[in-house]
Amino acid sequence: MSLRCSSNNRTLCEVLREINDVLQDHVIHKQILPKLIEAEKMGKRMAGKLMEYNKQVFADWWEKNPDYEADMKLRLNKNYITEEGKNKQESTGLLKKLALKYKADKTGDSVANYTDNYEAQLVSFKNKFFALLEIGVSKGGSLKMWKGYFPNAKIVGVDIDHNCLQFADDRIKIYIGDQTDSSLWDTVFKEQSFDIIIDDGGHHVHQQQIAFNLLFPRLNAGGVYVIEDLHTSYWPDFGGQYNKADTTVSFLKKFIDGVNWRWYKELSRPNESCTHEKPTYFDLNIKSLHFYNGICFIYKK
Ligand SMILES: C[S@@+](CC[C@H](N)C(=O)[O-])C[C@H]1O[C@@H](n2cnc3c(N)ncnc32)[C@H](O)[C@@H]1O
Repeated sequence: MSLRCSSNNRTLCEVLREINDVLQDHVIHKQILPKLIEAEKMGKRMAGKLMEYNKQVFADWWEKNPDYEADMKLRLNKNYITEEGKNKQESTGLLKKLALKYKADKTGDSVANYTDNYEAQLVSFKNKFFALLEIGVSKGGSLKMWKGYFPNAKIVGVDIDHNCLQFADDRIKIYIGDQTDSSLWDTVFKEQSFDIIIDDGGHHVHQQQIAFNLLFPRLNAGGVYVIEDLHTSYWPDFGGQYNKADTTVSFLKKFIDGVNWRWYKELSRPNESCTHEKPTYFDLNIKSLHFYNGICFIYKK
């Protein structure tokens, strides 16, 4: 007996056969998702069956990516896989679950809840093949969390503490060094470029700004740079204080003018306030900034 999909008259078997064809190589599993979306049109149970089938055929891949299964189940149960959701999937809460599982320093604290912010901003990277760099490894929790959330990403961690080398594995690479040391970044970028860079390192305002100045120019076009724990801009022992000129929050506020540079540096109509200054690298390359409590996402053009 063949089960027919009422919307386009294709059988489940035909869809399964197509999956088999596209999944010659385990690595291109990203193509599962559109197929699951298609299967969902036949009903959620079918999508579940399709996933089970897929797991049998590609057992190795699924075994190496246990968190992906949880994510898939969550999406199926919550009906997140829809036509419109093909490319822009909604937040599932998976990142928070992974943060709690691996004890990443990113959620559950009374001041900040970064996982929701991250999931809202980075969901478009979910199944992409890309590389993520995080400054600040500590006990390795966040690197394991990223590995679980992004099944196709290379994860790189940098920390000043040599003990962090123990957290390297098949998809996680660790470098030891100081985030303000440009020679460290020469070594790291010789091997890899990045689409996402996260600063969760020393958190002193000068460290945050030096690292940003060194790394943002090296971030891939279309990438995102994230600075965590911006509350140190209000803490004197980290170089902060409300409204002080050289804090990281003040540094980032200037980029709001930078995003709008044309309106005061290069006006097309006569205006006395035009400065005629040359746009800086950051004026030209920062596309947008997105602030939440304690964290900022800076997008590159
Ligand atoms: C808040 S912890 C990182 C937590 C981790 N990202 C997580 O979410 O689970 C900060 C880490 O930054 C490291 N660190 C401090 N100063 C640094 C520096 N100048 N360069 C690189 N890493 C630094 C510390 O050794 C520590 O492991």
